[in-house]
Amino acid sequence: MEPKLSPLFTKDEIAAAVSRLAAEIRRDYRDKNPLLIAVLKGSFVFLADLVRQLNLPLEIEFVRLSSYGKGTESSGRVRMAPGAPSQIKGRHVLVIEDIIDTGLTAAFLLDYLGRKKPASLKYCSLTDKKERRRVMVNIDYRGLTVPDKFIVGYGLDCDEKFRNLPDIYVLEQ
Ligand code: IMP
Ligand code: MG
Repeated sequence: MEPKLSPLFTKDEIAAAVSRLAAEIRRDYRDKNPLLIAVLKGSFVFLADLVRQLNLPLEIEFVRLSSYGKGTESSGRVRMAPGAPSQIKGRHVLVIEDIIDTGLTAAFLLDYLGRKKPASLKYCSLTDKKERRRVMVNIDYRGLTVPDKFIVGYGLDCDEKFRNLPDIYVLEQ
């Protein structure tokens, strides 16, 4: 059966949210040299659009985590893949995420990075699936609130598909 995609946010709506987040980040990190840590793979499109609006002396690292197996339900377990950035101590770290769902990934990452003694540690997520939260996490920069549905596009996938769509859709199942 063909998957059915229902439009949720157009690329213009996404661009407006990204510009707003970029303005907030520029203001808060004006005199800093932040280290952006993007969570692969879903954040790559958002990151690319966001950093081109940040005229700051920043650096970018990537982490690879997994909580999802195949499909659309969280396994509840989060793991860090090898190759995590090592120079965190004393840095102003800003995590860049595509979506916060249960909050387990964010909680894990904040704990993991916090132990490495950054000068500051903040979280930015393009989307927030609030209703599904299982652990409390503080999101410093939040883009778009999304319903309790599985969403794809603009980097977000279902089984590695749909990441290349410019808009965001609900995957009806
Ligand atoms: P959490 O640990 O439950 O907050 O899940 C975070 C991760 O699950 C995200 O970074 C995504 O990779 C994935 N995820 C959660 N909800 C969705 C969705 O609706 N579409 C695509 N990926 C999702
Ligand atoms: Mg992700």
